[in-house]
Amino acid sequence: MAPTLTLADIERNPNTVTQVVTLPNGLRVVLRALRPDDAFLLGTFFLGLSEDTRRRFAPHPFTMEEAEKLCSQICYRETIRMVGVIDSDGEPRIIAYFIFMPGFGEHEQKRYHERGMPLAPATDCSVAPCLADDFQNRGLGSVLMGKVLLIAKRLGYKRALLIGGVIATNLRAVHFYTKLGFRQVGTFSTGIENYDMIMDLAGMGEPPRSRRGLILLSVVLGAAILIVVLDHLLALPGQTDRLDTHG
Ligand SMILES: CC(C)(COP(=O)(O)OP(=O)(O)OC[C@H]1O[C@@H](n2cnc3c(N)ncnc32)[C@H](O)[C@@H]1OP(=O)(O)O)[C@@H](O)C(=O)NCCC(=O)NCCS
Repeated sequence: MAPTLTLADIERNPNTVTQVVTLPNGLRVVLRALRPDDAFLLGTFFLGLSEDTRRRFAPHPFTMEEAEKLCSQICYRETIRMVGVIDSDGEPRIIAYFIFMPGFGEHEQKRYHERGMPLAPATDCSVAPCLADDFQNRGLGSVLMGKVLLIAKRLGYKRALLIGGVIATNLRAVHFYTKLGFRQVGTFSTGIENYDMIMDLAGMGEPPRSRRGLILLSVVLGAAILIVVLDHLLALPGQTDRLDTHG
């Protein structure tokens, strides 16, 4: 499928990837690209992360200074940071942060190359998600990550892999990625065991095979019923003719 979005589109107008998500519990989250004026919101999100979350998700320091740096150096062609923003007592609050990298880092490139799975910048991209502690394990990550992966697909990427893999004992994250369609392709050690995981984006946004089968069956049955009804209706005048002849 041809890409329906380009990095140049996002650079020209970052709002092109903005989406509003309303969860079944009524929570309204605006998922959008990080903006230069987000430093305080992002820094507040970083400072609020627990030690556990920081240990599991460690792409960079979690300080106000880091947030200011990231917001002053935005380059959507290199990294698109997506944030999930809610209204919290009339004030915006970032509760989700996704790093989306067109392409991949040199560590991932080396690891995948060594296991005979070379990566290609035109087809492979990388992601890393993190939710505020009080919003974890409520289904929000799955919904928002699905949206981020669909953006990756619209940009023409065929596969998405994890930035820095996932710590093997981070069972929730491993389950979360597996549920989204990622598969483990190898392990690596950073003093602790990690998994590299990757997913094919081809099937994203399409009904699963079982549902596709059901849809096909419904279409075929519907068409068959239509043919029978039409056949019956068209046959009626002919029957009348025959009756007339015999009369
Ligand atoms: C990982 C993360 C992004 C997932 O987002 P989330 O909103 O918490 O995830 P969801 O609630 O959508 O899904 C979590 C799934 O894990 C399951 N789960 C929760 N704890 C689990 C555990 N200990 N073992 C196995 N599965 C577990 C949940 O039941 C749910 O699966 P289900 O939908 O099949 O029931 C989020 O938890 C997070 O930010 N964690 C801290 C940072 C982190 O680990 N980032 C990833 C770095 S690689």
